[in-house]
Amino acid sequence: MTTSPIAPPVPSVPSVTAVPAQQSVADTGPRINPAYLNIGESLVRELSRMMSVPGMISLAGGYPGPELFDRDGIRDAAHAALTDAPVACLQYGPTEGLPALRESICEWMSTCGTTVKPDDVLVTGGSQQGFDLLVRTLLAPGDAAMVERPTYTGPLRVLKVAGVKTITVGVDAQGLDVDELESLLRDPAVPRPKLLYVVPTFANPSGATMPIARRLKLLALALEYRFVIVEDDPYGQLRFEGEPVPHVAALVDRVPGSRDWVVHLGSFSKVIAPGLRVAWLTAPPALRRAAMLAKQLDDISNPGFTQMTVHRYLAAGRLTAHLPVIAGAYRERAAAMRDAIGQHLAGRVAFNIPQGGMFMWGRLEGDFSTRDLLALALEEKVTFVPGDIYYGDQPDFRTLRLAFATPSPAQIAEGVARIGRAVAKLAG
Ligand SMILES: Cc1ncc(COP(=O)(O)O)c(C=O)c1O
Repeated sequence: MTTSPIAPPVPSVPSVTAVPAQQSVADTGPRINPAYLNIGESLVRELSRMMSVPGMISLAGGYPGPELFDRDGIRDAAHAALTDAPVACLQYGPTEGLPALRESICEWMSTCGTTVKPDDVLVTGGSQQGFDLLVRTLLAPGDAAMVERPTYTGPLRVLKVAGVKTITVGVDAQGLDVDELESLLRDPAVPRPKLLYVVPTFANPSGATMPIARRLKLLALALEYRFVIVEDDPYGQLRFEGEPVPHVAALVDRVPGSRDWVVHLGSFSKVIAPGLRVAWLTAPPALRRAAMLAKQLDDISNPGFTQMTVHRYLAAGRLTAHLPVIAGAYRERAAAMRDAIGQHLAGRVAFNIPQGGMFMWGRLEGDFSTRDLLALALEEKVTFVPGDIYYGDQPDFRTLRLAFATPSPAQIAEGVARIGRAVAKLAG
């Protein structure tokens, strides 16, 4: 990724501006921790509110297609959970998560090629919470962490609030550039990171997947330079083309000693339903215990009802049965987006084409900002996410993310055509 020479534009769409710093500090009012005044609201969440504007097509949010929720399967699982295990559903439960669910998570991970024990698992209320717990337990203000450039906005915001120095590592079509990582680690002027956050498969936003060789090199570097790899994998099972690549966590035996340096964040948000808020992390014992204690301070535990529902859903084999339905629908939607890009954006925006996940990542060919493009796109009634928000530093204002999971193929075709009109207007 290279840095665009163009300056940050003034946001031109009033309803999608971030909350300005200091906005709510009245001299006499509560004195809010300044860290929370400066992060702004997530632009993606603000854009998702635009979905309610009549006629608007959203290519913005990473929301699962709602008609793809396995409503019958989830209802049956919820019913079985409450009927057969009412106390586990309704009583306070262990902070680590219900033992039955932790067993099923281990089975699920083994079908994905990774061996973990129930004792390694901490159930979390979303992998977003998992990352927050890790940052709180591993990092103090002033410590350094590494992230991809670009990366998912959630971790960027968590690191900012924690006062952590964020160092970015470039990404290309094969994900994290491990050679750039190595030179940063070897550079005595660059602070040593305690943690590196990476989405190795169908990354948000780049859509890129790291090949095995890069994953092995990453493990070797973590071992040598003693930083924790946080592997975030919400999209890995949403493959609609190509061969699966093992988790980083599945490769630890090939780099002896690296097991102690890998945390895996898994989530059912994108494959069952984000509203259940059931996810997990696996971590070496001392770190998992620290994260468990941090979670105890937050919420005591995840709701037993949703945990037991997910356990019953997995135990009934519903996820295995339903995943191909989701992946099949995303295959069609991605193909519709690829075709529409070829028709309406060829020569104007260069895109990566992923083999799974939810996102296509593009870069304008001309010297324009996608913030300005967004303003024109909203006039055409289509939304996307300007790419600059995904950068911890050196934002590239020519980049953008399109999501294909939620709209139908026809809406995708129309949405990309509208973006094509907006790009034409922008270019004059
Ligand atoms: C890379 C990545 N990690 C984590 C999340 C959040 O997942 P969860 O719903 O499990 O908190 C998202 C959501 O968009 C994501 O893109």
